[in-house]
Amino acid sequence: MQILTGIITISDRASKGQYDDLGGPALKQAAEGYAWKVAAEALVPDEKREIQRAVREQIAKGCHLILTTGGTGVALRDVTPEALREIAVRELPGFGEAMRMESLKITKNAILSRNLAVVVDKTLVICLPGKPSGAVECLSFVVGAIPHCIEVLQEVPTSC
Ligand code: MTE
Repeated sequence: MQILTGIITISDRASKGQYDDLGGPALKQAAEGYAWKVAAEALVPDEKREIQRAVREQIAKGCHLILTTGGTGVALRDVTPEALREIAVRELPGFGEAMRMESLKITKNAILSRNLAVVVDKTLVICLPGKPSGAVECLSFVVGAIPHCIEVLQEVPTSC
């Protein structure tokens, strides 16, 4: 199936125009490299309500998968996991576990990331770190499970 993908950059500074959004374009390029169709893009500040609204808008546009970048760290303004957990029907802990396990081989700061994946309605939402290279790396560590996960959520018959 064609995976319709939404991308949300979560950053106070990029949303104020204080610097360019590099994470969103990096994830767009990665998604297209995996042959997914990018159907929606958004840039929001580190505010729970804004994050939740952007996710809901992209679900309404038909996105099967939403990738977020930013707001997963330990700063007080980092609220992406909290925003997503509030609207999730379930969490998929394996995604965060795999991302941290593999990222620790690259940077000791990976232990600070609270990367996670959740299901909102029938959409898989994966929260990636804010650094563009980190976001693309983390996506690569979990990409193998994404098509099957989406088929199950979309109730496409699978062999498993
Ligand atoms: N994971 C990978 N693979 N590569 C990275 O460069 N950066 C880390 C971590 N995870 C990184 C990574 C850093 S420096 C931080 S602070 C956390 O992700 C959280 O990032 P965020 O608050 O920008 O989302």
